This record gives sequence, structure tokens and C-alpha cells, in this order.
Amino acid sequence: MSSPELGEVILDLKDLRVWFPIRRGLIETITGRPRLYVRAVDGVSFEIRRRETFCLVGESGCGKTTTGKALLRLVPITGGSARFRPSKEVAEELERRGVEFDEDGMVDIFKLTDKQFHPLRRDIQMVYQDPYGSLNPRFRVRDILEEPLIVHKIGETRSERLEYIARALEMVKLTPVSEFVDRYPHQLSGGQRQRVAIARAIIMNPVLVVADEPVSMLDVSIRAEILELFNILKERIGLSFIYITHDLSTARYVCNRIAVMYLGRIVELGPADDVIQDPQHPYTEALVAAIPEPDPRNRARMRDIKIKGEVPSPVNIPPGCRFHPRCVLYEAALKRGEPWAKLCTQAEPPLVEVKKGHYAACYKHEAARPKGFTG
Ligand SMILES: Nc1ncnc2c1ncn2[C@@H]1O[C@H](COP(=O)(O)OP(=O)(O)OP(=O)(O)O)[C@@H](O)[C@H]1O
Ligand SMILES: [Mg+2]
Repeated sequence: MSSPELGEVILDLKDLRVWFPIRRGLIETITGRPRLYVRAVDGVSFEIRRRETFCLVGESGCGKTTTGKALLRLVPITGGSARFRPSKEVAEELERRGVEFDEDGMVDIFKLTDKQFHPLRRDIQMVYQDPYGSLNPRFRVRDILEEPLIVHKIGETRSERLEYIARALEMVKLTPVSEFVDRYPHQLSGGQRQRVAIARAIIMNPVLVVADEPVSMLDVSIRAEILELFNILKERIGLSFIYITHDLSTARYVCNRIAVMYLGRIVELGPADDVIQDPQHPYTEALVAAIPEPDPRNRARMRDIKIKGEVPSPVNIPPGCRFHPRCVLYEAALKRGEPWAKLCTQAEPPLVEVKKGHYAACYKHEAARPKGFTG
């Protein structure tokens, strides 16, 4: 997808870290062994603009969901900052609560108290993978959609709130509205249920929606419809999305930019088409090679998966480049005696710009090597 008319930056995430401490047993405590952590997110930075769909892709366990949850403060933050540009209504409420804005009119959502953060729950919404589990089975559609309005005191009377509900249902194409408002979740199809979940996310006119694998549990035939709905909402109400998936092939059709995560870090980030057509990190290359190829003439590519072994545990992250134990490029460079290959085991490669707007964290790019490095 091209991105000609993106707006201003609405989120500037820097060096996000979410480390979950592992509970220590009695022996570890007595012997004073150092505490161990699951480093689920380990230094993630990116910016998102208005009307942008930003995609986080990567294998299971690489920290995608945890990154999304951190933005809603659903997990404890170990470090980093998240500057966010609130909507006008929320900004006014934040001011009343004594929150200070920086010179760009943004607030660091990790620095707020819980009470100060509460109004921001309007602006940042999450849509989950499982439309069965995320809707209360005892609530009718109208109750599901009315609840957030009541919590955030939007609409003074019931009939005013019903107007908001009708508008949200129209927006997600659950029409005629009268046919759907009184149904319970079990009286809807999976695709319709996900539409209700999306209606609940957009009813408060948010700035950012984090959609975590929103179509992976749906029938293939309705996936495209839901993804198309995201595109329409983006255009009509200027929403921004973080789209979380491990499916690179759909990412390309929905997203402006793609960030590829590996073991809690972004290893590549760039315009969606460019990342897929011209990957700049060996891990992305392997993921792209694994995309199922519908054209049998090109199927040979599928066998060409250049990756070894399993993802290591986020408790014991390999030193140097965390991908090096699985990297065939590193192995080949070492065999050829390339001087830069020794860097791969020494220090984490920085994410550097290797093409316009396209970043990669790999020492095969000279820009990632230390200044003056000649081997
Ligand atoms: N509350 C928690 N306590 C301890 N470890 C956790 C917690 N939540 C997540 N983790 C660990 O953090 C790592 C990242 O998990 P996360 O759910 O963010 O991955 P993901 O990229 O969303 O994976 P998937 O594609 O399977 O959904 C995993 O190793 C996971 O086991
Ligand atoms: Mg996940």
C-alpha cells in the first residue's frame, strides 16, 4: 500500500522494554542467584502517523502482543517512553487532571498515574484475535456498545447513546441496525462478532486502534472484508492502526509500513512493499521465502527457507546479534572469513537506514558497523 496522505505523528515509541520477572524458588533466593527475566520486549522504537496502518510481524513469542498491550498499559513497563498525541476532548480532560504536554503537544503515556491515564483509554483501543472470548455472552449488542460510553460519560441520555451505537454499527456495516442491536453474541456469525468488537473500539472515536491478529480466527472468505473495513475506517475517520500478525502476505495489503520483530526487537522496518520485495535482514528474507506461493511456477522458492532451528528462549537471549545462531548469512560470512562476521557475536547491531525510509539491524550493512571498522 502506498501512503501519500499520512498526517502528523500520533505516537512516538522509544526503547520500550517489558521484562517479566521469573518467580524465584526458595533455593534461588537463599543462594542469592540473580533474578531472571523474560525479555518479551527489549528495546522497541517506532513512530506512527495519522491514517497510517503500521504492521508488527514476527514468529510466535517475539513480543508483538506485549508491545500492543504496553501502549494500553496492560503490562508493567520496564523502560522506555511513549509520546502520544491525544484527541481534542481527551487533551482537555488531561489538562483538567494536571497533565503537562511537551512542546509538540504530546504526553508520555508511561509517565502518567493510573488516574491520569484513564481518559486516554478512549483514544487507544484494542481489538483482539478472538471475537468469541472478547464479547460478554450475556450482553446484547446494544449493551456491549453502550458500556464504554457510560464509562467515559459520552452521551447524556439513553437515546443519545443509541445514536452513537447506531452510527458505529453503520460504520462497521451491521445494517439494518435494528436487526442487530438486540442480538446476543451467540446469535451472530464470527465475522459479525468481530464487526461488533470493531464497533466497540471505534464508538469513542479513538486516535489509535491496536488490532491483534484480528482476522486469524475468521473464515478465509470474510478475512478480506474485515481488512477492507479497516482501510475504510482509516480513510473515513482518520484512524491509525497497529496491525499485529504473523502473516506477512496479508500485511502487505493492509499496511503502509511493516516492522519485523525477532525476540523482542525490531530487526527491519520499512515501506510494506519494499520490505517484502527487497528485504534487508536475513530473518525477513527467510520469512518472505516462507510465504506460500500460489503460482506453481514459483513454488521452488518455498523450499528455499534460509533459517535454522527454533527461536531461543527470551530468558536466555544470545549475545551479540540475537539472530546469529540461526543465521545462514552469518555462517557463510564466517566461512568466507569476512571480518564483519565477528561483530555478530559481539554486540547488538543497531537499526540503521539502508534505503530511503527502510531500516535494518544487520552487520552485512556497512552502516551498522562501528565507525572506523575495517576488520
Ligand atoms: N504476563 C507474562 N508473564 C511472563 N511472560 C510473558 C507474559 N506475557 C507474555 N510473556 C512472554 O513474553 C514473550 C512474548 O509474548 P507475546 O505474547 O508478546 O508474543 P507474540 O509475538 O504476541 O506471540 P504470538 O504470535 O504467539 O501471539 C513470550 O515468551 C511470552 O511467553
Ligand atoms: Mg500475540
